[in-house]
Order: sequence, then C-alpha cells, then structure tokens
Amino acid sequence: QYTAEPFVPDGADLSALRRAAAGCRGCPLHRDATQTVFGTGDPHARVMLVGEQPGDQEDRQGTPFVGPAGKLLDRALAEAGIDPAESYVTNAVKHFKFTRAEPGKRRIHKAPSLREMTACGPWLAAELALVEPELIVILGATAGKALLGSSFRVSQVRGTVLEEEIHGRPERLVPTVHPSAVLRADDREQAYRGLVGDLEVAARVLA
Ligand code: URA
Ligand code: SF4
Repeated sequence: QYTAEPFVPDGADLSALRRAAAGCRGCPLHRDATQTVFGTGDPHARVMLVGEQPGDQEDRQGTPFVGPAGKLLDRALAEAGIDPAESYVTNAVKHFKFTRAEPGKRRIHKAPSLREMTACGPWLAAELALVEPELIVILGATAGKALLGSSFRVSQVRGTVLEEEIHGRPERLVPTVHPSAVLRADDREQAYRGLVGDLEVAARVLA
C-alpha cells in the first residue's frame, strides 16, 4: 500500500511540512520527477485552490501553477476578483507523472492513479488542517476525487457551493474545471468564461 503517512511529521508548520515533503517516498512518482512540488501561498489564506499534480514547468521550478495552466488560472482569478495574495495553491498529488512518446522527447502529463492520489492525500490533509481556509476551490476531477471521493463528477457540481465533511472537518467547496481543460477545449473562450463564472461563485462566498 502506497502512502505518504510515515513522511508527514506531527506538529509541523507549513515550512516544516514542505521540507519533509521534499523527501517523500510514499509512492513511486518521486522516482522520475525532478522534485516535490508542495503548496504555496498565504499560510492563513481564506481560499485554498487545489489542482491535480504539477506539470512540466512546475516540476522544473518546484512551484505549483507557474506554467501555461497557471498563467490562465491567474488571469481568471483576477477577473473573478480573487486576490492571489490571499490564496494558497496546491495539488492533490505532489509529484509530476509523465510519459515520453520517445526517449529524450517532450514529457507528456499522465493522470495520477487512484492509488497515487490516495498515497499523497496525507499532505493535502495536513495543508488543510494548517491553513484552515474558509473555502476550497476544486480545480478539476482529480482534485474533486481526492477530496470528495471517486464518485465526484465535476460537470454535475461545478459552480455550486458544497458543504462536506473532509478529514472530520466541515468544509465549503466550489468545484470548477481544471485550467488545463480550458487550454484543450475546442471553444477556449467559452470554456474560459465558464471557469471565470465558477470562480465568481467562489468570490461571492468570500465577499
Ligand atoms: N496543473 C495542475 O493541476 N497543477 C499545477 O501545479 C500545474 C498544472
Ligand atoms: Fe509522496 Fe505524493 Fe510524491 Fe507520491 S506523489 S512520493 S505520495 S509526495
């Protein structure tokens, strides 16, 4: 059974957690990735944004949402009126999972398995317990499944305010699509408007 559990220190603050996560060997994803990409942002943020896993750029730089999906997310957050300085961003899975079409070729993102998501869960649980956000924004299906279970369907709940118990604590959540899905959409403008609309729901909860 893969799990990060033995690597998560008791009583740690966020910076101690981040240092410990750098050495996580809780599942095989650490082997091929460059580094652990831990969450970042205001330790007392009112809103926590949860993505899937780091992408190619995030894996190289060690920071979540610094690549193309992150740029799009920043723009959408600004448009919805959510201050990035007041938010904490992280991912359900902390290592980049990828394949290569051919050796030495570009790294292609691969969705994490349920086992890997479950293994990495203790890091996200620890971040939630420390940051105690007023609201969680779920970015896409992987984050939704990691937080709410495998029956989560983003299309059914996006743009709504959910109240659910997570790791024994009542949480408010607004799910939306993953910014990478906007980049891949046939109608990018429409998909982008949809993302901004969902984030506006989140902004109203925080207002
Ligand atoms: N996609 C994610 O889910 N997270 C990142 O950090 C970057 C891209
Ligand atoms: Fe640990 Fe998560 Fe990385 Fe797996 S993906 S090694 S559980 S930090």
